[in-house]
Amino acid sequence: SPLHQCLHDLPKCEHHLHIEGSLSPSLLFRLAALNSVPLPDASIDPSFTSPQTLEDRYTRFTSLNDFLHYYFIGMSVLITSADFESLAYEYFTRAHADGALHAEIFFDPQAHTHRGVSYTTVVQGLSAAQKRAEKDFGLTSELILCFLRHMSETDADVHYQDAVSLGHFSDGTVAGIGLDSSEVGFPPEIFREVYASAKAAGIRRTAHAGEEGDSSYISRALDICQVERIDHGIRLVDNEVLLKRVAREKTLVTMCPLSNVRLRCVSKVEELPVRKFLDEGVRFSINSDDPAYFGGYILDNYCAVQEAFGLSLKEWRYIAEGAIEGSWCEEGRKKELL
Ligand code: ADE
Ligand code: ZN
Repeated sequence: SPLHQCLHDLPKCEHHLHIEGSLSPSLLFRLAALNSVPLPDASIDPSFTSPQTLEDRYTRFTSLNDFLHYYFIGMSVLITSADFESLAYEYFTRAHADGALHAEIFFDPQAHTHRGVSYTTVVQGLSAAQKRAEKDFGLTSELILCFLRHMSETDADVHYQDAVSLGHFSDGTVAGIGLDSSEVGFPPEIFREVYASAKAAGIRRTAHAGEEGDSSYISRALDICQVERIDHGIRLVDNEVLLKRVAREKTLVTMCPLSNVRLRCVSKVEELPVRKFLDEGVRFSINSDDPAYFGGYILDNYCAVQEAFGLSLKEWRYIAEGAIEGSWCEEGRKKELL
């Protein structure tokens, strides 16, 4: 349709994409066989009978934790640098086909090092894919190193120090840090020290907040961890003062509509605060989160928002420009994107 073409042609940036969440069930089964990684026995969890039964299971997540169970099993098939490279290159290929020009992607090093895959193996594969995507499609990208909030602050710091000592924050290999995994019960302040070190070193900072957790997770991420972005942030609507502050400070909120529906944070896209954010001047971007698990890539998420809210082209341009402004690429690249 003409509208679909307009949304395709908008200069889009993706800011909330877990690269491990772009692993499709078919690639998951192929890599499990190739790398001899055992999957759960289908007699215990019938979802693992075939790629199709797994895909079906992904339509029935009941919560963030229910999804995370499958997400961590899924990524256990990623072993070599080549696995990470092909995963990321396939994602970039799809993002480019959707009309994305720039992508800032999360990765979860702790989920790999704790099963014997080194940080360097992961980053080498991802970096190789980034270079190929820029050369082949002109798609620019950044990596954001996420800490798993269900693990200790000490473990987060070990991984942070690894990246620091390899020079990855200063040579541009990694653009910033993030915080993901189970939210409720794991508030941002647990990680205050690693966030303070990153701030002192001039490293960019974001955190998932206000996805399943209440709006205090958002204010604590801002006040205690001094994040520059909020991932999800949909619970902002419950705190008018905080919402106005986020608007005033131009903090980017990275929304993930199809994810929020699949994880039952809202019952339908119409419930998301898109209209509210536009009216109050909250800067936000629209993203896919874990596209292989949530039924859509970036353009599907744009289309879902359009179906739910019927925005004008002017409003779409405002969203796209805010997303570019809130990106962590160089100023020169932002000018090209606008
Ligand atoms: N890891 C991958 N996707 C996530 C999400 N939506 N929330 C928290 N952690 C995640
Ligand atoms: Zn996420």
